[in-house]
Amino acid sequence: MYKGGGIIVGLTVFCLVATAPFLLNIGRAAESGPTLSLDTPAIHLLSDPSCVESASYMRAEHMRLLAEWRDQAVREGRSEYVNSAGAIFALSLEESCLQCHSNRAEFCDACHNYAAVEPYCWECHDGGATGS
Ligand code: HEC
Ligand code: HEC
Ligand code: HEC
Repeated sequence: MYKGGGIIVGLTVFCLVATAPFLLNIGRAAESGPTLSLDTPAIHLLSDPSCVESASYMRAEHMRLLAEWRDQAVREGRSEYVNSAGAIFALSLEESCLQCHSNRAEFCDACHNYAAVEPYCWECHDGGATGS
């Protein structure tokens, strides 16, 4: 009796601990989407932390932008991206995006897992730490 109760209490506690991040995440997700971390060494070094284009543009268009970058790099041999403000970036997934967003698990993957998309890029490109 006593032992059985202990096991059940133990299992309940274990289940709560194991599912808490998941449950908490659902609560947060329902309110404001996934939690995205910008806490990387490269972003800390920026005096004015911003992306290659505005955050709202990036949110909506980064997939198309990356496809353009790939075509420009592979087909046209280009190596630089000049953004709408005239700033220059390396035209590269690994040398640009993943230099600043070096926390792929807490940034790209966090959002992709939330949106249930699974870019296949990482089969070939070194995307650093994975989220799952
Ligand atoms: C120079 C560093 C830097 C580079 C290079 C960079 N980012 Fe960003 N990115 C940032 C910062 C800083 C933010 C947050 C900007 C803000 O909130 O105004 C951001 C925001 C974003 C967002 C929007 C996140 C949100 O708030 O919803 C996406 C998506 C994104 N980046 C993807 C990319 C992709 C894809 C690339 C490569 C094509 C890239 N970034 C290159 C620094 C960078
Ligand atoms: C704010 C949320 C968010 C962030 C942050 C984000 N993505 Fe995405 N990403 C999405 C969504 C949503 C889609 C699917 C959109 C669609 O299919 O139209 C997507 C699609 C993609 C695709 C196309 C996948 C395919 O198979 O078509 C690529 C490539 C991609 N993201 C790369 C990145 C990279 C690299 C980063 C980190 C630097 C990143 N994303 C960060 C939300 C995000
Ligand atoms: C089958 C392997 C493979 C897959 C999958 C793949 N790539 Fe690539 N990608 C390459 C190769 C090879 C190059 C050329 C590398 C070079 O020239 O240094 C390249 C180049 C690129 C470039 C330009 C050069 C650079 O350094 O980034 C971009 C941007 C890019 N890929 C984005 C993507 C994105 C986004 C995805 C996922 C939607 C993806 N790739 C999926 C193999 C792949």
